[in-house]
Amino acid sequence: MNAKELRAAFVEFFAERGHSKVDSSSLIPHDNTLLFTNAGMVPFKTFFVGDETPPYDRAVSIQKCVRAGGIHNDLDEVGRTTRHLTFFEMMGNFSFGDYFKSDAIPFAWEFVTGVLKLDVDRLWVTVHLTDDEAEAIWRDDVGVSPDRIQRLDEDNWWRMADTGPNGPCSEIFYDLGAEYGDDGGPAHGGEDRFIEIWNLVFMQFDQQADGEQIPLPKPSIDTGAGLERILCVLQGVDSVFGTDEF
Ligand code: SER
Repeated sequence: MNAKELRAAFVEFFAERGHSKVDSSSLIPHDNTLLFTNAGMVPFKTFFVGDETPPYDRAVSIQKCVRAGGIHNDLDEVGRTTRHLTFFEMMGNFSFGDYFKSDAIPFAWEFVTGVLKLDVDRLWVTVHLTDDEAEAIWRDDVGVSPDRIQRLDEDNWWRMADTGPNGPCSEIFYDLGAEYGDDGGPAHGGEDRFIEIWNLVFMQFDQQADGEQIPLPKPSIDTGAGLERILCVLQGVDSVFGTDEF
């Protein structure tokens, strides 16, 4: 698959599952907590926190992103790793109080293994330390081997900025192979070896400036799959700069 085909496959997969297609927003967000749009969920923030009523319960988008400040700053990594970029595209499916973990997790697995046909033997998942429910879904509903599921703390809690929507998350990793670093999965192995390709955020809180965590009106889903990283895996190249996009 080239980039154009991957974008189309992603959008169609989620459109077939009831998601409204939404165009990428500007890189300049309507949000004074961010300098640039840093994730696919940014244009939907007001829907998650309940300030606005969304015109749809489910959405799919491919959002232009820059991570150049605040709590998500990739710039110091660019040129030092094979997977960080100044600008990237994030493919995402979103639920605004509609479905939650028990649908979001199987959707991601079906796309990764059924549509992209990534080798299951190379996939690992992580869940938050506290998230027994997500682990059970991966293990019992999806059928991921328990020894491929690891628990992490802060790495499995996603927040947009110092304030705003946040929640525990679960990530899918692809093992590039022994030549790229130590074994041990994403929790213990080499970080150039186990490459994060998809993040499923179980949005539940809206962090206030004083530190208080207000529950969101409804638990929601924010996912993000890095277009360039998935292309890397699909095209068998070991750097995002080797994909057809570049
Ligand atoms: N917002 C999450 C992230 O950027 C999932 O899309 O990783």
